[in-house]
Amino acid sequence: MKKIYAANWKMHKSPKEARTFFGDLKSAAISDSAHLIIFPSSPCLEAASDFLAGNKIEFGSQNSHFESSGAFTGETSPLLVLQLGGKWALLGHSERRTLFAETSELVAKKARAAQGLGLTPMVCIGELLNERDEGRTNDILARQLTESLSGVDPSRGLVIAYEPVWAIGTGRVAGPDQVRDAHEFIYDYLGKLGFKEVPILYGGSVKPENAGTLVHIPHVDGFLIGGASLDVASFLKIASASN
Ligand code: PGA
Repeated sequence: MKKIYAANWKMHKSPKEARTFFGDLKSAAISDSAHLIIFPSSPCLEAASDFLAGNKIEFGSQNSHFESSGAFTGETSPLLVLQLGGKWALLGHSERRTLFAETSELVAKKARAAQGLGLTPMVCIGELLNERDEGRTNDILARQLTESLSGVDPSRGLVIAYEPVWAIGTGRVAGPDQVRDAHEFIYDYLGKLGFKEVPILYGGSVKPENAGTLVHIPHVDGFLIGGASLDVASFLKIASASN
């Protein structure tokens, strides 16, 4: 299986900066073993479409509503993303969960809708620091998986991103043992839920310096990268981690 390297740009980059990035990325040599996905902010989706639609570098939205159209001010329509040539829907990122009160039930509803239209949901899960300190990591991951994947079709595309919340944007990457344990647990639990061969990405302060170690941990099928994905050279260095 190819390793997946997904860039979560959050609310960074102007459309002009996005175009420059896409141009640079397309002209770079990209390893055949790397599957690249970009999640730009909504105002940059059209730039992504212009440069990447039909390309082997894929893109998607950072959020995706459960309806295709209607009176949902501020939401992103999965149908419009699809029409732009997008293939992915990033769902349940911890910033959506903690800052915008998104529940796992809502994430599942969005994931079902995305799948129904032919987008692949990338569903994020991860524990808070206090939950880890209290020894509740596996319980939290199990609950988030059960609830966020309720009604999601195991026979259609799905990717899970494990992002310990305390490692996101903090520079504090999870240690190899923590990543190995969490990914093994998620892999086993997905199997119990009937999901086979679902790629599991790690996210949280992934950098060119730590990617080479993390990428070889069992059941780490790639990364979801925030800050270090904003620079083409740094993103490409991470994407060559498994070479
Ligand atoms: P980070 O963000 O790489 O900047 O920690 C990861 C994410 O939020 O997906």
